[in-house]
Amino acid sequence: MREQNAMIIANPGIDCKKEINISWHTGLDNKGSYLEYREIGEKDWKKVFPTISKVDCFNNVYSVDKNRNDIREEVIFLHCKVYLKNLKVNTNYEYRIDSSEERHYFKTSPKDEFSFIWISDFHSYPPAFNRLENASNMIDKISLKHQNADFVFCSGDSIAWGGSYSFWKEFYNIPSIKKYMWANTLGNHDYMSRAYEKNTSDYFKEVNNFPKNGYKGEIGVCYYFKYGNSLFIVMHNEHMGVNEPFNENVEKAINWVEKVIKNNPAKHIFLCQHYQWINGVNGRDRAFGYERWKTICDKYHIELAIAANDHTYIRTYPIFADEIVENGTVYMQCPSSDGDRGVDLEEPMSYPNKKIAFRYATGLNTIAGIFVEVKNNTIKTILYDRDMNIVDENIIKSE
Ligand SMILES: [Fe+2]
Repeated sequence: MREQNAMIIANPGIDCKKEINISWHTGLDNKGSYLEYREIGEKDWKKVFPTISKVDCFNNVYSVDKNRNDIREEVIFLHCKVYLKNLKVNTNYEYRIDSSEERHYFKTSPKDEFSFIWISDFHSYPPAFNRLENASNMIDKISLKHQNADFVFCSGDSIAWGGSYSFWKEFYNIPSIKKYMWANTLGNHDYMSRAYEKNTSDYFKEVNNFPKNGYKGEIGVCYYFKYGNSLFIVMHNEHMGVNEPFNENVEKAINWVEKVIKNNPAKHIFLCQHYQWINGVNGRDRAFGYERWKTICDKYHIELAIAANDHTYIRTYPIFADEIVENGTVYMQCPSSDGDRGVDLEEPMSYPNKKIAFRYATGLNTIAGIFVEVKNNTIKTILYDRDMNIVDENIIKSE
């Protein structure tokens, strides 16, 4: 049934110059569901049949409806996944499911330079629709200002309770989902269900189709993709624990990250996780953040380390071996964008941190987003507030 199709999204393929993954859900009786795509301006559609799996991880999950009634969501569906290959570099495509009138779009990666919109922590929650609306407006404003944005990167907590199917459904209806390829990161909220009844990465896996190039237990959750001249490595925090910097699971993640870096030479590397490098409220280095990953960032000269979760914006100076240097790693955290769950900064910080160049948050109603422009020798970041005022701007220069 055509009207049963939902959660239609374009995700990165491994090499986004020619590969894009598409994901959608359809009803149990629609085993013949298909995708058609074409370059913008082309006449003929190309038809592709997906790999299909039946998904019940969202069924009978404790949740809430938009009127704040307690509910259990009953939902079982077919997850359809397509891996488009042999696409043209730097090209705009459109696609549709089951010959629907509804069009979706993505752009393949340029050869080298590109840009993206970086958003985070909007905790979609139907009883408070304004959260998603605020984030969506922020994305649209940055998109309008920078017409050349190539994709959207979310560093996690797009959903208040990942187990709540209706929350994802609401999120996947915003205009930028139809317009852009989305890369997302699994946040603690995306991983949980209401009252922590059933926590699992499955929710995140079953609403996306990320490259299957993670490691055992984390396939489709941890992943890497190549975009332009860059390599993005997206990690998952929940299985690594939060108390000590190193343990068996952290070692597995580190081994994977090192292998990915060695096998995929790139001009710039973006190391991405949900949990913050540094506590933006009080300035303290985090065991699961800076302390855990600084050795890797130093060793492989990661230029921009991407994180979030803190609901504050942080930009460090370039750092190497705990010191401020000319060419090091800039650790950055994207603030919240929902106008509902922000925090206040401690002024001054309880743990003064010389690495921090700039912090930003405007309390509970923080709404901000980042535009990132990647050139061959620079990475420029611009933090915008809700009115598109530039709050912070920085240029990382490559060696
Ligand atoms: Fe979080």
